[in-house]
Amino acid sequence: MTQQQKTFSERLKAANRITHDSVDNLVMSVEPFKNNENYAKFLQLQSVFHKVVDGIYKDPALNKKIPELEYMARYDAVVKDLEVLNSQPYEFKGNLPTPQGNAAVGWLYCAEGSNLGAAFLYKAAEKKLNFDAEHGASHLAGHPEGRGKHWREFKVYLDNLGLDPKAEDEAIQGAKDAFAFYKVVLREVFGLPEGYESPNQRAFHP
Ligand code: HEM
Repeated sequence: MTQQQKTFSERLKAANRITHDSVDNLVMSVEPFKNNENYAKFLQLQSVFHKVVDGIYKDPALNKKIPELEYMARYDAVVKDLEVLNSQPYEFKGNLPTPQGNAAVGWLYCAEGSNLGAAFLYKAAEKKLNFDAEHGASHLAGHPEGRGKHWREFKVYLDNLGLDPKAEDEAIQGAKDAFAFYKVVLREVFGLPEGYESPNQRAFHP
């Protein structure tokens, strides 16, 4: 399949596959489910990321094109999960990004897609630390429709946004920036050196 024939959501996935797996590896390398202290740090990382995308989920123009988008935002759920751990949102030392326009669509892709892989994270939080959708892991819970079904529908809305190739490119760059920012925050919250990558390359995507 050539680049031209790919749908927007397929292009987003293809352009971010390797980066995604490096983020996955980096997250696992800090053992977020080892104990409550590590889990609280993971929640703090999530709090910074979801704070940045919160306004995108609530954007009135995007909500006209993607129904119920505002209800998919998970920042409030992260804050609730942090409260269970007697912790609070992390104050990122640098300036928070303020994604706009097409780039914001890429950030949205990154945030909403993260709920798909969160099935694994939710199970780990439940099994290892005894948290669940009502208690401590609400922001990792699946969509009421089911994660897979919801994601397939969400991708159709992305594909129907009517972005031209240049706008798609801007969104893809936004998604790349979102993954890159996630890594920066992760390293700061978990005290890893700048630019650190996990040597353990365990990829989910073939
Ligand atoms: C240990 C951490 C993570 C694991 C184990 C993980 C795992 C996965 C898995 C297995 C999928 C594919 C699910 C499927 O196709 O059914 C997926 C998809 C995805 N994940 Fe992650 N993930 C992790 C962290 C993240 C983070 C932190 C982000 C965003 C900041 C993220 C963003 C995404 C996106 C956007 C997709 C959708 C890819 C697509 O189909 O276009 N993931 N993840």
